[in-house]
Amino acid sequence: MAPGGKSVFAAVPQALPVAVFQLTADFRADADPRKVNLGVGAYRTDEGQPWVLPVVRKVETMITKDTSLNHEYLPILGLPEFRANSSRIALGDDSPAIKENRVGGVQSLGGTGALRIGAEFLRRWYNGTNNTATPVYISSPTWENHNSVFTDAGFKDIRSYRYWDAAKRGLDIQGFLEDLEKAPEFSIFILHACAHNPTGTDPTQEQWKQIAAVMKRRFLFPFFDSAYQGFASGSLDRDAWAVRYFVSEGFELFCAQSFSKNFGLYNERVGNLTVVAKDGENVQRVLSQMEKIVRTTWSNPPSQGARIVATTLTTPELFAEWKGNVKTMADRVLLMRAELRSRLEALHTPGTWNHITEQIGMFSFTGLNPKQVLFLIKEKHIYLMASGRINMCGLTAKNLDYVAASIHEAVTKIQ
Ligand SMILES: Cc1ncc(COP(=O)(O)O)c(C=O)c1O
Repeated sequence: MAPGGKSVFAAVPQALPVAVFQLTADFRADADPRKVNLGVGAYRTDEGQPWVLPVVRKVETMITKDTSLNHEYLPILGLPEFRANSSRIALGDDSPAIKENRVGGVQSLGGTGALRIGAEFLRRWYNGTNNTATPVYISSPTWENHNSVFTDAGFKDIRSYRYWDAAKRGLDIQGFLEDLEKAPEFSIFILHACAHNPTGTDPTQEQWKQIAAVMKRRFLFPFFDSAYQGFASGSLDRDAWAVRYFVSEGFELFCAQSFSKNFGLYNERVGNLTVVAKDGENVQRVLSQMEKIVRTTWSNPPSQGARIVATTLTTPELFAEWKGNVKTMADRVLLMRAELRSRLEALHTPGTWNHITEQIGMFSFTGLNPKQVLFLIKEKHIYLMASGRINMCGLTAKNLDYVAASIHEAVTKIQ
């Protein structure tokens, strides 16, 4: 308490709620039976329910019965078999970097934790020391947390690179390449490994090659954010193509992996920061500094999610079952894309809707404007982000007709 009975917190301003969590709270509070949540980035079954992957249930039971396990602290950098195998699925079994022992991993609290530890490290040590002035480039648009994570880690110069061409509803590759050319050498670029959030639009392999060529020539640092491996195409390998290509081109890079979506382990907070460096000696020094950062951040990570992932990745039958589970989720998203597009086309909803099936991953960037979004929320009880991004998993056989008719009404009534 301050003098005069005043609170020491009196000057704290009220922060704005995080939009996507607020949207879920509003959805929960809505009593209308027609309500649909197309906001939060989590998988839902065709019954609109969260899905515990069958392989996860199986491994959880194994863990419960395993009396050799206990609740001792994990090492600061995490469970060794989790770290090694997470990096293996990102980089591939035959990765030259793994063979040459120049890969390391840090178990983290979700993909967010991996980004934050990576950002903290880069600010302290990237290409010298105390790099608060190094430009960090994020795509325009991007996942809303990228900017804050890098700002809170101390970076002072966050810039955006061109990515989305709203008129063409696709990738602005020319703008992207120009921004790479213009960026100061050694700038850091946050790249979405696959299933770009929020646009659902990724570069083609040819375009990735162009991006890599400029980045290599201009000494730009790739920091991949891989939150949806397997979700984009249903194949872990196909979705890791870009990261693996950059490694094959000799880049040193970071890759923040999240197992929230592809394992459905959202609240277990499971992620891994994969570090690829020039040689093993560099990796070891980098990890030694990351250990210091983790020690003052969460000290050491939780075990449950890491055990589930590590057991699954190291047991061939479970690994095969998991890949099947991922494919089930990816296929349902593809089906919902096709169903929504065909309904909008059948209704002759003004505009073109091919982007719904051309975009990939969990999200679709519909092109709906903020007024149309507000109409859908207020009048139709359909919750989506102000950007017009929808989570395809929020669609079900039961609500598709209602959502399509509502989008049709929004587009025809509101400009
Ligand atoms: C692009 C992107 N990066 C990172 C994350 C963070 O994932 P996690 O929940 O594992 O921290 C998300 C989650 O929505 C995301 O969409």
